[in-house]
Amino acid sequence: MSRIDSAINIDDLKRMAKRKLPKIMFDFIEGGVEDEVGLRTNASAFREVRLVPRYYVDTSKRSQVSQMLGQTFDSPFGIAPTGMAGAFRKDAELFLSQAAKEANIPYMMSGASNASMEAGHKLAGNNLWYQIYGAKNRSFQLDLVKRAIDLGLKTIAVTCDVPVSSNRERNRRNGFVRPLKMTLPTILEAMLHPAWVIEYYRQGGLPMLGNWQRYAAQGSTPDQVADLFAAQTPDASQVWDDIEAIRAAWPGKMLIKGIMHPEDARIAVGMGVDGILVSNHGGRQLDSMPSPVDMLPMIRSAVGPDVPLLLDSGIRRGSDIVAALCMGADFVLTGRATLYGATAGGLEGVKKAVSILQREVDLVMGQIGAPNLDALGPHFLLDTVRADEERRNTGARR
Ligand SMILES: Cc1cc2nc3c(=O)[nH]c(=O)nc-3n(C[C@H](O)[C@H](O)[C@H](O)COP(=O)(O)O)c2cc1C
Repeated sequence: MSRIDSAINIDDLKRMAKRKLPKIMFDFIEGGVEDEVGLRTNASAFREVRLVPRYYVDTSKRSQVSQMLGQTFDSPFGIAPTGMAGAFRKDAELFLSQAAKEANIPYMMSGASNASMEAGHKLAGNNLWYQIYGAKNRSFQLDLVKRAIDLGLKTIAVTCDVPVSSNRERNRRNGFVRPLKMTLPTILEAMLHPAWVIEYYRQGGLPMLGNWQRYAAQGSTPDQVADLFAAQTPDASQVWDDIEAIRAAWPGKMLIKGIMHPEDARIAVGMGVDGILVSNHGGRQLDSMPSPVDMLPMIRSAVGPDVPLLLDSGIRRGSDIVAALCMGADFVLTGRATLYGATAGGLEGVKKAVSILQREVDLVMGQIGAPNLDALGPHFLLDTVRADEERRNTGARR
């Protein structure tokens, strides 16, 4: 049995990833911002959901096949964009692409990925989605859209929740700046993770931001390309007109990632966006944001029943995925869960993370009496059951 095979849940993969990485790198994945209230909010939002099972429903044949944005996937979840994944494990984005293809789930490659969208597409084909950050030079963001068109990608997402950089205190404390600040404690700690250190130096330090290389001068080093990226994003001058311009340029399905306010959801849908990814960026942007789970019902009411709503932030269990679907999401993305897998075990690690979540989704569906995704809904939530019973009892007393 390989080491990865011994992982029983996502937390096991997280521990393996933590062992592999120096603290400075693991903290970059794990950290939130400031007091990390957002991280705890995301975790507790799911821990507080209670599902009430129904019995004597035939669940002997269960299916988690999901339709999303005109595509059919084998599960109701996909992989969220995580920038610089190649710094945690060489070629991580290629493993994520390959695993997404094999599991038939979407992988939304990050606008700050190390592999290029062209390389990801070779492995993932139609399972590759692409995420765009608005850039100060608008021609870059429109060129990224053009490249996605040329590849025939089905779906892109524009991330809206990074108008400015966030206050990631773990990174600042650890010296996670470019070039990595190698203080004596950092070096000593890194030496406890020799496999990562060897791989890091063998690939010449922080890897290239593959999608941005062509916008920098020919022969630019990874650091120079990263400088260009950092000079271009975040861009606090992005406004709805930019979304309109991308919408006009992009013929495929388009999501906005990071919408939290119902009014923003209404505006986005009014502009012809095909779906909303409700997300607080995994607690990495504004520490005082609510959990996406808390905003989901309001956003659903704002956009109506037909607009696809996706959700991420805090998913660590199949039961979290089922709960999100019961609460009104149509699809879910996982950020850290699959990144732990990629970091801990490359392709095998991502496949393991996906299979853990698939198995857990399947078992929860069996437990609550839902043979397929159409059977899921608020009627499994304790709050709904309680409200329905109270209404019934009040009616009976009248
Ligand atoms: C290491 C890391 C890098 C990320 N990079 C990006 C990114 O480049 N673009 C983006 O839209 N979101 C990015 N995110 C946010 C994820 O797409 C996603 O919203 C978040 O991870 C979901 O929360 P979870 O990690 O609790 O599942 C990143 C998240 C992590 C953990």
